[in-house]
Amino acid sequence: MIRKAVLPVAGLGTRMLPVTKVVPKELLNIIDRPTIEYVVDEVIASGIDTLIFIISQGKEKILEYFNLDLGLRTFLKERKKLDLLKKVEEVENKVKNLISVIQKIPEGLGQAVLMAEKVVGNEPFAVLLGDDLVDAKEPCLKQMIHFHLKYGGNIVAVEEVPLEDISKYGIIEGEKIEERIIKVKNVVEKPSLEEAPSNLAIIGRYIFQPVIFEYLKRIKKSVGGEYQLTDAIQLMIEEGHEVYAYLFEGKRFDTGNKKGFFRTVLHYAQKDEELKEILQEFCQLNVFS
Ligand code: UTP
Repeated sequence: MIRKAVLPVAGLGTRMLPVTKVVPKELLNIIDRPTIEYVVDEVIASGIDTLIFIISQGKEKILEYFNLDLGLRTFLKERKKLDLLKKVEEVENKVKNLISVIQKIPEGLGQAVLMAEKVVGNEPFAVLLGDDLVDAKEPCLKQMIHFHLKYGGNIVAVEEVPLEDISKYGIIEGEKIEERIIKVKNVVEKPSLEEAPSNLAIIGRYIFQPVIFEYLKRIKKSVGGEYQLTDAIQLMIEEGHEVYAYLFEGKRFDTGNKKGFFRTVLHYAQKDEELKEILQEFCQLNVFS
């Protein structure tokens, strides 16, 4: 069983500067909740109650968001703002076991995941990126756990991306073994269009066996001068470990860049009855006038 989820949130979020000078991108709000809360909800709805946050300096606010704020609770109680109190309590009671590990210098996702080694121990675990959201009927991670129970090994979630986006992702090559499941033979980080073996891109959801840590220790800095998680996955495959790619059901949103972030906000706004109306009004006034 998967009991632990690692959430790397230590990155600098440079694509969202200047706001990320002072606000971690994982705390930027999608409507009235920070991005990271959507990811945390997915983890909990997938049956996992131990969350390991990999943070860096300046990102402590992410932990604070889920921590108890007794002063705020007392204030809301005294003012009889019980609806608001309920909202705050819901967030603060959400994570049963919260552990944080500091990545002193964010030198890549590969290094961030390696920071979790001691806390994870010798058991399979999940990794979810704090800026990737998946809106799905059944949580994406839960779908993956289902296949993990069947196949074991390691699983990465993938989706088809347009050709012009291929060079932004880790791309896989493999062989289909059943509907939505591909046995991975190769992964390439941010290939050019010519080098890309497919248009199947790895998104921010993974299930790993603890042996990944051994490979993370062996990789060197590569694309972008960072320790790339995909390099460890490739090495693992080369040495005979099984990695499956799962074409998840649902819609993914990359909140780590301006366009992706705006798309995410619009998606969740049109799912909200009150906001949907405003969106419709806005479109009528501005597009058709
Ligand atoms: P990204 O590459 O999207 O995040 O990593 P980034 O480096 O913060 O963004 P840019 O490119 O500068 O805009 C995906 C996830 O991995 C975490 C990030 O916080 C993000 O949630 N990450 C990345 C780490 O925890 N440590 C790192 O060294 C790098």
